[in-house]
Amino acid sequence: MEERLVDYLREDEEEKVINLSLRPFKLKDFIGQEEIVSSLEIAIEAAKRRGESLEHTLLSGPPGLGKTSLAYCISREMGTKLTATSGPAIERAGDLVGILTNLEKGDILFIDEIHRLSKVVEEFLYPAMENFQIDFVIDKGPYAKSVKFNLKPFTLIGATTRKGLLSAPLRGRFGLFFDFDFYPAQSLVIIVKRSANLLGIPIDEESAKEIAERARGSPRLANRLLRRVRDYAQVKGEGIINLTITKDSLGKIGVDEAGLDDLDRKYLKALINIYNGGPCGIESISASLGEDKGTLEDVVEPYLLSKGFIKRTQRGRVVTELAYKHLNIPFLYT
Ligand SMILES: Nc1ncnc2c1ncn2[C@@H]1O[C@H](COP(=O)(O)OP(=O)(O)O)[C@@H](O)[C@H]1O
Ligand SMILES: [Mg+2]
Repeated sequence: MEERLVDYLREDEEEKVINLSLRPFKLKDFIGQEEIVSSLEIAIEAAKRRGESLEHTLLSGPPGLGKTSLAYCISREMGTKLTATSGPAIERAGDLVGILTNLEKGDILFIDEIHRLSKVVEEFLYPAMENFQIDFVIDKGPYAKSVKFNLKPFTLIGATTRKGLLSAPLRGRFGLFFDFDFYPAQSLVIIVKRSANLLGIPIDEESAKEIAERARGSPRLANRLLRRVRDYAQVKGEGIINLTITKDSLGKIGVDEAGLDDLDRKYLKALINIYNGGPCGIESISASLGEDKGTLEDVVEPYLLSKGFIKRTQRGRVVTELAYKHLNIPFLYT
């Protein structure tokens, strides 16, 4: 099967390295998400003036929009160390003891996919977040005793694609909340040009615009498309990216003018052809497509919703007239 281009959930090794070099370094390099950046600047400045750690911060939004990058920017602005881990990586509460006790004042503990923490680990985190204290049990059986340990005031930054899955007690222990929105094309143009510059790829304004418009609001995808277009330009063209090369190569990989890829179109067509345009529950769509429900909810639906191609109703998902138009399928009023 052909690799999915719009597969944000997977970053291969090469891409990881490239993305690392493309990550914004400080907040001032962080393009777009202006409201988040300016609120953060204030919160960081205030925390620094008080000589305190930053409040625990929750970053949420679809994959590839810069949550991890922003966490690193925050630690650089605070001038403190960041330790990164993720929900699924922490199996037992014990896995966190070493990490937490090693944190210095103001350091950042970054937990990616924080909605995937187990209940036990989550509860272990509560006193750590609230009072910078942990309780852990040493020894077993009759000699077991619980020991309290004081931590230095640290900042937990949690990132999640599914804020709704976070338990209320965990959510309630964060002080700052930032929801990431899809980037408008004009921000992505700046990101594409910046990345092209960093990667040494010459690109003109209209090609950068074309990539930005098809990158479905995501910097990660914009960077990925840029590299694909560059490859295509080197193989099929004279190594120069122009609008023709850009359109050809993006067409070849199946990304259309609205940024939809094969899975997005398959999703819409399934709703239209099998379910008469909906309403239809996510379980049925996922079964019809043979696609993971999580991928559809995390990646496909947020973008289709933002484009106005689907609507969420109480009874399920409904395809809009706009989507029929986009797919060139006649829309029948009922
Ligand atoms: N605001 C931004 N400005 C420039 N590049 C960005 C920005 N946000 C994300 N990127 C690029 O997109 C890539 C993916 O971002 P990342 O922080 O890993 O997203 P997330 O953690 O939300 O999945 C980064 O490696 C970086 O190259
Ligand atoms: Mg991330």
